[in-house]
Amino acid sequence: MNILIKNIPEEGIKADALVLPLFENNSIDIYSDIDSITGGFIRRVINSKEFTGKQNQTTLLHVRNINSDRILLIGLGKQSDITTDRIRQAGGKAFSFLKDIGVKDIAVSTSIFGYLPKNFKASQKPVFYFIEGGLLSLYKFEKYKKSEDSKEIKTAIILGTDKDIPLKWLQTSVSAVNFAKDIINTPSNDMTPAVLSDVAKSLSGKRIKVKVLEKKEIEKEGMGAYLSVSKGSAEPPKLIIVEYKGGKGEPLALVGKSITFDSGGISLKPAEGMEKMKYDMSGGASVLAIIKAASELELPVNIVGILPATENLPGGSASKPGDIVKTITGKTIEIINTDAEGRLALADAIGYAIKYYKPKAVIDIATLTGACSIALGNEAMAIMGNNNELMEKLKMASEETYERVWQMPLYDEYKDYIKSDAADMKNSGGRNGSLVTAGYFLREFAGDTPWVHLDIAGTAWNDKDKPYIPKGATAVGVRLILNFLKES
Ligand code: BES
Ligand code: MN
Ligand code: ZN
Repeated sequence: MNILIKNIPEEGIKADALVLPLFENNSIDIYSDIDSITGGFIRRVINSKEFTGKQNQTTLLHVRNINSDRILLIGLGKQSDITTDRIRQAGGKAFSFLKDIGVKDIAVSTSIFGYLPKNFKASQKPVFYFIEGGLLSLYKFEKYKKSEDSKEIKTAIILGTDKDIPLKWLQTSVSAVNFAKDIINTPSNDMTPAVLSDVAKSLSGKRIKVKVLEKKEIEKEGMGAYLSVSKGSAEPPKLIIVEYKGGKGEPLALVGKSITFDSGGISLKPAEGMEKMKYDMSGGASVLAIIKAASELELPVNIVGILPATENLPGGSASKPGDIVKTITGKTIEIINTDAEGRLALADAIGYAIKYYKPKAVIDIATLTGACSIALGNEAMAIMGNNNELMEKLKMASEETYERVWQMPLYDEYKDYIKSDAADMKNSGGRNGSLVTAGYFLREFAGDTPWVHLDIAGTAWNDKDKPYIPKGATAVGVRLILNFLKES
């Protein structure tokens, strides 16, 4: 989509639709000029209470006497309740509504944003969030089911004098989100570890180097925990390593869980809902997307992305409960439950990152536990780690992006939960505390390196449409970590 900023009055702009955001039950004085020019219909729908301006409410008017054909009223909710995310939601609703009716060119009025309450705080201009929500809402996965009509908003014009809106950042981060969503939504028959490694290789360029370790090499590295997950599948594992060099110093390691399908293995999952386990590589897809955007934006940072890709299937050579495996760090793990496979792959991937890259910090992002979605639902990822400074920075980025994080404790007492009689630890501590024991398990592999774990099991997938996040893969974490990188 083409996004432009133009200093043209609302009545002068020529578009298929002019978008006017409004607060709930507020006077329309700021739009009184355009209302009188067009014959008083805005006032009429408001006086009749057909449109009150409540959050995400839409009313479309066909109008004459101005250069645009239509006016879309979009509700921002109560003026006193306004937040950046409510603006994003209204943008999402407005854009998706207009796309659905086949509108091609839209113009967005920014007059209302001069009337935000005094306590409203945001680091970007308010219209930034409106457009961000708008763009994010338009995503559709069409690889296997093309829609007959090719409805598409081609141009969005932001009205006003403010040129200080980082449009390149906005468009690059939204395309990165869409890139990740495409990877995640692709079913596992077409998104095997090999295909994922090809996608990663397609990012190779001036600042990005991609290396893929094959099964033999992974064996040589002694990554027995990761390998054990792949044993039940005919698809060979691929350890995908993506290096981005945009700055100086030690890299930040981003480790993404990349189970392209999680059946549970011998500890087989129930059939119901199992089809969704194609999204168990959301973390890895997000890492690729983050690095892609970082390079397009030429962020002055170094990143190494590590994706231990594999399927988790119960084939004849699958690993079995009771098996003991050895990780790259030398630590041994007793496999209690083959469905706790994510931490096995991540343990070796974190170990590998630290051994070969001496990263200044490690962030892992993983659809790790069902308990995460039981605890926090679809609203927040769980964050835990061994370094408060790093967690605080992520919390700040989280406030900016509304990709919310909620901190969980890693008490020393949890060590007991994953104690094994036969190995250094076991991969499951049972049901109690399983969100945090999974984190505690990973912590053992981070050692002294500053490390943060993001469990996205509850947020990586939407069963229902949200105002600016359509159902399916959400690519959660992409905007969060890009913002974190921008500030670091
Ligand atoms: N990939 C799953 C976690 C998951 C569940 C993600 C639901 C998204 C939605 C993970 O590999 C898993 O199976 N975890 C188990 C661990 C348990 C066996 C200790 C879980 O949380 O049930
Ligand atoms: Mn599992
Ligand atoms: Zn899994």
